[in-house]
Amino acid sequence: MPVKPLNCTIVIFGARSDLASRKLFPALYDLAAWGHLPHDYLILGVGRVPVSDEEFRQQVKNKLAMFSPESLQHGDYSTAFFERLRYVKADFMKADDYSLLQQKLGEIAREKSEVANVLFYLSTPPGLAPVIVRNLEHAGLGGKMSNLGGWRKIVIEKPYGINLETARELNAVVGDVFREAQVFRIDHYLGKETVQNILVFRFSNGIFEPLWNRHFIANVSITISEDFGIRDRGAFYEETGLLRDIFQNHALQLLAAVAMEPPVDLSADAVRDEKAKLLRSIRRLSPENTGNSLVLGQYEGYRSEKNVAPDSVVETFAAVKIYIDNWRWKNVPFFIKAGKNLAETMTEIVVTFNCPPQNFFGPAESCSYTANQVIFRIQPEETISIRFGAKRPGESLITDPVYMKFDYRSSFSEKGLTAYHRLLLDAIAGEQMNFIRQDSVEYSWAIVDAIREAAGGKPPEPYPVHSRGPESVEHLYG
Ligand code: BG6
Repeated sequence: MPVKPLNCTIVIFGARSDLASRKLFPALYDLAAWGHLPHDYLILGVGRVPVSDEEFRQQVKNKLAMFSPESLQHGDYSTAFFERLRYVKADFMKADDYSLLQQKLGEIAREKSEVANVLFYLSTPPGLAPVIVRNLEHAGLGGKMSNLGGWRKIVIEKPYGINLETARELNAVVGDVFREAQVFRIDHYLGKETVQNILVFRFSNGIFEPLWNRHFIANVSITISEDFGIRDRGAFYEETGLLRDIFQNHALQLLAAVAMEPPVDLSADAVRDEKAKLLRSIRRLSPENTGNSLVLGQYEGYRSEKNVAPDSVVETFAAVKIYIDNWRWKNVPFFIKAGKNLAETMTEIVVTFNCPPQNFFGPAESCSYTANQVIFRIQPEETISIRFGAKRPGESLITDPVYMKFDYRSSFSEKGLTAYHRLLLDAIAGEQMNFIRQDSVEYSWAIVDAIREAAGGKPPEPYPVHSRGPESVEHLYG
């Protein structure tokens, strides 16, 4: 468990956002109830709508009941938690409105004898981040200034910018106002137990690493599939689309974890150096080399969702074949597929090994379904399986695929923290390993920008709800 400071005020911009309601407040509530937050914590919601502290508390309570009723089962804690919630009205765009926030933080600092720690959390659309950071600076609230005493840090939600250019601009603004050690670019996938376990699996087990390369591995596929649509995030999706919402961050971070080189140690920078190097080695798609390496799709009915344009060409599905130009992975295809409203909700990485040089056992095509695989199931089940061929009972020597499976829930009795629990604690403690560094953000955007350019503005292919995606996805694997 990271070391926790004595006090911390968590200032949430976008405190009434979908993300804050579904993830942040439930995680903060649990952490507070378990005693994991700093002893002297306060949560300050910032938003445009004028509501009193009392109304804000009631709204948070309602959202908790809706999205995380199990959290409220720590019933006797609720009064203490809600007393620590405050609200400040501010238009994020108006520099003057930040003086109220500064005043409030000043009062809190005085109560705490001038050593108040502040964690700003931006749960806001990507376009607002640079404005908020600049306005914090004007109000004297930037991380490089310390007129209130204590530390200041900032957590910025994905998508971090909407392309390489805006990410660079945001990095420049953030770099003016905060030191890199104070910046936490969050991708909650990095807080998932099963994602963290990919590194442990790879680098703590002697038998896999020697095989983890182009000599033994035929291909790797990464799937992030959801059986629900964009919910009520039409406006957000119209601005982002799936490539920016899920591919640029979650999918590429999974790819980095499964394909990176071993770090020299477990310091945040050593791990992030290797991830950045990996992302930098990914071959960019171009209109000339796209061939059948890219399929974008849109689920039927997307255009009738609330706040979506009736002629929208925003993608809700993407499948891309990627190559990594380095010694370990040259010519090994990585298939990445992610989509909304597909047949099932699951995230997994499948590493498929080469077939043995000779197939003694039938049926003839057996390699395609008995080739060795390591399967990381990230969710909903949290498992790692190894597939291998075994003799089917009976007289003939026929191979069938069988699985050895490790299941988190049956192997470990203690319940792990969820991604937001862990990452909030890490940010408060200043532990950056599971946050994305500036260079990785930029490499990831360069990959996604190239994909978008390679698509050449071609409208996405429609696909039926609860299907496997557009039909032409099959050609990608062919
Ligand atoms: C978010 C995306 O970052 O991740 C959502 O904005 C997506 O579109 C979600 O549904 C998936 O995360 P999880 O952890 O709920 O599977």
